[in-house]
Amino acid sequence: MGLAKSLKCIECSRTYSLDHVIYTCTSCGGLLDVVYDYSEVDAERLRGLWARRPMNVWRYQELLPVNSALAVSLGEGGTGLHRCDRLAQKLGVKELYVKNEGENPTGSFKDRGMTVGVTRAVELGVKATACASTGNTSASLAAYSAKAGLTCVVLVPSGKIARGKLVQAIAHGAKVLAIKGSFDDALREVRRLCEQRRLYLLNSINPFRLEGQKTLAYEVFEQLGMKVPDRVVLPVGNAGNISAIWKGFKELREIGLSEGAPKMMGVQAEGASPFASMIIEGRDKLKPVEKPETVASAIRIGFPVNWPKARMAVVESGGWVTIVSDKEIIKAQKDLARLEGLFVEPASAASIAGLAKMLEEGLVDKDETVVCVTTGHGLKDPDVVLKFYEEVVEVSPGEVEEALGEVLA
Ligand code: F0G
Repeated sequence: MGLAKSLKCIECSRTYSLDHVIYTCTSCGGLLDVVYDYSEVDAERLRGLWARRPMNVWRYQELLPVNSALAVSLGEGGTGLHRCDRLAQKLGVKELYVKNEGENPTGSFKDRGMTVGVTRAVELGVKATACASTGNTSASLAAYSAKAGLTCVVLVPSGKIARGKLVQAIAHGAKVLAIKGSFDDALREVRRLCEQRRLYLLNSINPFRLEGQKTLAYEVFEQLGMKVPDRVVLPVGNAGNISAIWKGFKELREIGLSEGAPKMMGVQAEGASPFASMIIEGRDKLKPVEKPETVASAIRIGFPVNWPKARMAVVESGGWVTIVSDKEIIKAQKDLARLEGLFVEPASAASIAGLAKMLEEGLVDKDETVVCVTTGHGLKDPDVVLKFYEEVVEVSPGEVEEALGEVLA
């Protein structure tokens, strides 16, 4: 077993035993966080243990709040940290790495959370899991539930999720319902359902799921040779991942493995930027966006439920946020695919577009070490490429040279 002690409300500090099936504080409605006793951690021993295990989420089992002997795993984590010199040169930054989460089993970072969250479901002995999703959460939960032999219920905003993701949820046998409404409507509905029925909720409001996602920080630290980067740039949707990754870096510092921690830089899409707008405008309350719209369907979210945790991540780390247009997102997706061989979905490309903007705005210095997190695989959303990229030319045999023209020059 790991070193987890309890659940704690981030607003009123009320604590709950880990055995409680609970998603938010029953006193004040605040978000919950898993608390560890870090004084029990022997950093050198931990380092030794990690080094003997393969690089995946369970390498870090002492800092996960579930029994690793029960792990429901598909081999998640251990994704590449790719040094991107050609893109770095184009953007004008010294050292750029891409942590490519599309390399996870179902093609997104959600697998880090689901391996822990579904293991928790097994520990609890529940029969069914549920989530609302813009696509990736449902693909991942469906796969891990299948592996664990659990029923999975998925609510998605009707007509608003990328085809590849919908196909995954169906293939893995989830009961998929398309809700007439937005992701935010679907999330409200599934939260109600899970409170009233015996379904285990695995959206990022579930603190156990976020524990799995924090392992990205440990991996980046190890992959950089036991160093933290100056900045971590990532897309923000429901705002769980930025909170989770920040927790991972804070823990490394707390247990004495790292000296510092990176600044967390969140990126949102124009048309779905309630979190970034709140930070930029200096407000301490989030104003929901009623009809969120962006080409990056994964982060088409008007009311990010984890905003209080994400706000703490940005403030505590000394980070910031930026807002990018759909055009900038598609351009970044193309650049990453064509300069570095990494094909990521639009929401993921928002991290690259965001870095470009932050460099332009002078928010990021040219000689910093930056890690951009690309959260999901490009194949998730083939329609975006077919819509925004070059058309494929149809020719008859014998017309090939003519059609290739200057390519052959
Ligand atoms: N990138 C991708 C590819 C995502 O699928 C998501 C979230 C995010 C970024 C944002 O992460 O919500 O932790 O801030 N997708 C969720 C889903 C909402 O249902 O798949 P976040």
